[in-house]
Amino acid sequence: MSRVFAGVRPTGKLHIGNYLGAIKNFVALQEQHECIYCIVDIHALTTLEETSKLQENIRDMVLDWLAAGLDPKKSTMFVQSHVPQVTELHTLLSMVTPLSWLLRVPTFKEKAKQQPRNVNYGLVGYPVLMTSDIVLYKADKIPVGEDQLPHLELAREIVRRFNSIFGPTFPEPQPELSEAPLVLGIDGQQKMSKSLNNHIEIAATPEETKKRVMMMVTDPQRIYRHQPGRPEVCNVYRMEHFFAPRDLERVHFECTHATLGCVQNKEFLGEQINSYFAPFRQRRQEMAARPEYIDEVLAEGARRASKIAEETLREVKEKMGLMPRRS
Ligand code: TRP
Repeated sequence: MSRVFAGVRPTGKLHIGNYLGAIKNFVALQEQHECIYCIVDIHALTTLEETSKLQENIRDMVLDWLAAGLDPKKSTMFVQSHVPQVTELHTLLSMVTPLSWLLRVPTFKEKAKQQPRNVNYGLVGYPVLMTSDIVLYKADKIPVGEDQLPHLELAREIVRRFNSIFGPTFPEPQPELSEAPLVLGIDGQQKMSKSLNNHIEIAATPEETKKRVMMMVTDPQRIYRHQPGRPEVCNVYRMEHFFAPRDLERVHFECTHATLGCVQNKEFLGEQINSYFAPFRQRRQEMAARPEYIDEVLAEGARRASKIAEETLREVKEKMGLMPRRS
């Protein structure tokens, strides 16, 4: 049977891009597979500016996950550092990972450019830690975005190398690309992302949501209300594919015939987003009032994860000669 593992950096509250691109898929996967979802707080330390809000971000993320439909009875949810075996495995795997492989990784080169004064050792080892996350649980299905493909390729290379030196131990992890198309930010130019501040949080209030939607860029060539618009270049229209699929034809017609203005269309989209997330927001609020429940979910997740982790680490240490073999 295949096992799903996904790691998510604790960047705080989910936005529409995270939701449509990843979490929706996580929820669907738990119906068919054994799933492990991990909040990778140690990975977050590689880019230092994120760490002061780490605890708050972790809780926000779990709340969002639960409210979005991840079910602790079906999925294991835990915080990476709560199962410290991963750091031990990271050290062990680092012994079979050529440095040249790591220096070639595109995200490393990017980060090194972004934070030239903090090109730390952990940043180089980022993909080794990610590989450790995956193989500690012998996971083989990894739901990721395209940006993570080089990391997964490297994970497979490390796995192959380990298996060929020490004997078959880990399955080769395969990426599971979700079908969710790229979600652009309110600027209509770049991928929705918190760091670009072009995002809309799914837990935002209806008023905040409307405000953000009203800031969305539509067809830049449509300046006057009586001018026909071009839905195919309009990000509001694109977003309506997710939140108002039944209205697409009408919006297209009215926009291209200049009977629907951009402001009006944005008001419509705002309402649709608000009603789409209303049940989510309700559940989130209820759970936020019970902080001890979040602790319980994370403690139970860590317990389950630790069990698998201990087993794997023991096998690895035996194979690498750090422990006498049991059989
Ligand atoms: N590197 C991933 C990201 O930035 C996060 C991550 C850490 C991860 N460990 C993982 C993803 C294991 C999948 C599997 O999004």
